[in-house]
Amino acid sequence: MKIGMIGAGEMGGTLIRQYTKAGHRVKMANASGIEKLKSLALETRASAVTLTDVVTDVDVIVITIPLIGILKLPKQLFKNAPTRTVLVDTCNYYPIRDGILKDIEDGMPESVWVSNQLQRPVVKAYNSILYRSLVHSGLPKGTPSRLALPVSGDDKLSKDVVSVLVGDSGFDALDYGSLQDSWRQQPGSPAYCTDLTLAQLKKSIESARKELLPGGRELGLKYIMTHDPELWTDNVKHNREIYESNLDA
Ligand SMILES: NC(=O)c1ccc[n+]([C@@H]2O[C@H](COP(=O)([O-])OP(=O)(O)OC[C@H]3O[C@@H](n4cnc5c(N)ncnc54)[C@H](OP(=O)(O)O)[C@@H]3O)[C@@H](O)[C@H]2O)c1
Repeated sequence: MKIGMIGAGEMGGTLIRQYTKAGHRVKMANASGIEKLKSLALETRASAVTLTDVVTDVDVIVITIPLIGILKLPKQLFKNAPTRTVLVDTCNYYPIRDGILKDIEDGMPESVWVSNQLQRPVVKAYNSILYRSLVHSGLPKGTPSRLALPVSGDDKLSKDVVSVLVGDSGFDALDYGSLQDSWRQQPGSPAYCTDLTLAQLKKSIESARKELLPGGRELGLKYIMTHDPELWTDNVKHNREIYESNLDA
């Protein structure tokens, strides 16, 4: 596939490495310009381009920037991208980073907000895995302990395309229905950065309770900010504990 990446940081850089390794043709753009992308371009052979170029002549566009950055993207950026181009949203809402976004605070699913801002359908994927797990925990298809990621959106064909990419990264994809339901994979949910197999994910995503998400998100964030990020498996363990204590609440 031909893939355009908006954002090439922790998450974007990881996906760029995995997509190029799987044989996809990747272009990438960031906020501060091509210079910063030179070494990643050398390493992966992904080409560093402008935002205008990154959305041109691609099958899939992955948006992987801080959520508030959505508002800073050029208006009409996707105007010339055909409707068949699949847009993937990996973004999460963290008020400490993104500021307070009232619609989301009032319960609008984060990816519905993104889709509304962009005036385009999006598929929500990859938001619910730490980039370190994405780097280290992929396994070949059919391995019993293979982890799974939820993929939500309103167009089945688009979700199928994204599911192929998730598979290329070494993970099973769980089609979890519409974008309206995608809050079930947001920060603070039992599916969020808890590294689950497909069977575990199917069960835990069903048990999500919307009212518990903001509290769980803040507990998870506090942990990340006070612990060594290299010990990400402890972080995953802590997220599972938040979920289990929520079940008891
Ligand atoms: N890190 C994770 O483990 C993880 C896991 C799941 C989901 N996510 C979500 O994925 C998104 C990206 O996270 P990250 O950790 O990869 O962030 P990051 O390391 O801070 O990287 C952000 C990237 O986005 C680019 N960017 C920022 N604003 C932009 C704009 N307006 N236009 C174009 N590019 C822009 C930055 O470019 P410059 O470098 O030029 O500033 C950088 O390449 C976030 O919403 C995050 O919540 C992250």
